[in-house]
Amino acid sequence: MDMGIRITEDGPYIVTGGVPIYEKRIVKRDGVYVWEDGRELPQAEVYALCRCGKSGNAPFCDGTSHKRFKGKETADRRPYGERAEKLEGPGMDMLDDVRCGKAMFCHRHGKSTWELLKQSDDPDARNELIRAACECPAGRTVVMDKDGTVREDRLEPAIYIVQDPERNVSSGIYVMGGIPITSADGEVYEVRNRVLLCRCGASRNKPFCDATHINAMYKDTRGGSIFRKK
Ligand code: FES
Repeated sequence: MDMGIRITEDGPYIVTGGVPIYEKRIVKRDGVYVWEDGRELPQAEVYALCRCGKSGNAPFCDGTSHKRFKGKETADRRPYGERAEKLEGPGMDMLDDVRCGKAMFCHRHGKSTWELLKQSDDPDARNELIRAACECPAGRTVVMDKDGTVREDRLEPAIYIVQDPERNVSSGIYVMGGIPITSADGEVYEVRNRVLLCRCGASRNKPFCDATHINAMYKDTRGGSIFRKK
């Protein structure tokens, strides 16, 4: 079966094709944010990921908790290139669609992606800018050279179940490597290298994360253990 994610109406994400799944924590190390391994998660050919935020077996759907969940997909489905604004720097340009899960990878050594863009004629700032833009799990930012050449990492298809111990919350589902995502109504979303899906159930931009898990203080139900090291 091909790799894919199918959104079910008011229910979970069904993942097919044996997509590798890992829990990862966002941690700050030496001034930059990095992924740290979390708990080991079971691998399977097909699995259902909770979308309502209430499962007793997170990140997987437990089959019952979503009974009262209203999971209507509300996100703008136009392609990224149409939704994003083009921002120009002296050495590079950047697209920005303002789709933000507050994962913080846009901050490196005290500078934001947008500050780095303004200094992008400096080789060091340019390298930092490429890292900052490419590591945003929400896929908010895409950088390119002045001739339009996009600087994007080649990511293998995988899913990260994201934990944010700095904020003491559970974050979204980082889908990387161009895994197709199909809406509950059958339409396939634009295939992208990086997207962050909502799993707390509270995003106002479903199926994508809009950082509402922070205000909602969402913690997935395997409890406080998620913030401890393995
Ligand atoms: S979507 Fe099924 S328990 Fe959350």
